[in-house]
Amino acid sequence: MNDTLFSLSGRTAMVTGASSGLGRTFASVLAAAGASVVLTGRRMELLEQACVEITSQGGEALAVNMDVTDEKTVTQGFDEAERSCGCIDILVNNSGIAHGESALEIAPSDWDRVIDTNLRGAWRVARESGKRLIKAGKPGSIINIASILGFRVIKGVAPYAISKAGLVQMTHSLALEWSRYAIRVNAIAPGFINTDMNREFFKTEAGLSMQKRIPMRRVGDPDELAGALLLLASDASSYMTGSVVTVDGGHLQSTL
Ligand SMILES: NC(=O)c1ccc[n+]([C@@H]2O[C@H](COP(=O)([O-])OP(=O)(O)OC[C@H]3O[C@@H](n4cnc5c(N)ncnc54)[C@H](OP(=O)(O)O)[C@@H]3O)[C@@H](O)[C@H]2O)c1
Repeated sequence: MNDTLFSLSGRTAMVTGASSGLGRTFASVLAAAGASVVLTGRRMELLEQACVEITSQGGEALAVNMDVTDEKTVTQGFDEAERSCGCIDILVNNSGIAHGESALEIAPSDWDRVIDTNLRGAWRVARESGKRLIKAGKPGSIINIASILGFRVIKGVAPYAISKAGLVQMTHSLALEWSRYAIRVNAIAPGFINTDMNREFFKTEAGLSMQKRIPMRRVGDPDELAGALLLLASDASSYMTGSVVTVDGGHLQSTL
């Protein structure tokens, strides 16, 4: 077995939504594997703090402002990242929001916000990354953070589930179109993971009862996505593209 199989030494990775939750963990995991990491998002203070922590542990990190719903900040963010770290080899398309309301009640503006962030935002960033990799003639790995709600549904989060189903199909479409450029596009579909997005929900009656339906009887920890992330980011997955790796404690095999 090649012990450098999962190494990201010499690579530059960008993580969107790296200011909290999964994105924050992903940035640390990639840096620990040897990548220079560009942490993006809107909350610069949190991004700067994360960079200090990563560099104090010997990693290389840069904080860059990027709102995935704003084309201009996406282009500017890539420009800034390239000036400091060169072309991005690995993109983790992680930014996302949820909105809990029934499909009958939800305001069109809330619907649009979720789709624009989770689906169109991911495409905006992937496209910018793809264009630059193709121009530089470099191979790349794009990892979209989908969800098990892209495959099965629960009540009250229609635009979220629809955006994640779209992200799964975007993964397949871009994999098909970009294979010729040696850009691999895969996704991780997490189950319920303990982050700011749903920490409060897990404490409610509905949240506790949901956890009993997970075959492993618990929600996941952000660190438990590290294996799938390193697999898809590194050459260990050199023959994988268009794949969606589920990490959910078996939840998809049960009732959501
Ligand atoms: N936690 C789970 O159980 C779970 C399960 C499946 C999938 N996921 C997915 O995992 C991803 C991360 O979620 P999380 O659980 O870590 O939640 P989180 O802690 O709320 O993190 C969401 C991140 O998205 C960023 N973001 C939101 N809107 C943005 C925008 N317009 N532009 C740029 N960044 C934006 C936020 O950064 P700023 O506010 O700084 O911009 C934040 O860092 C999401 O795509 C989510 O759908 C989570």
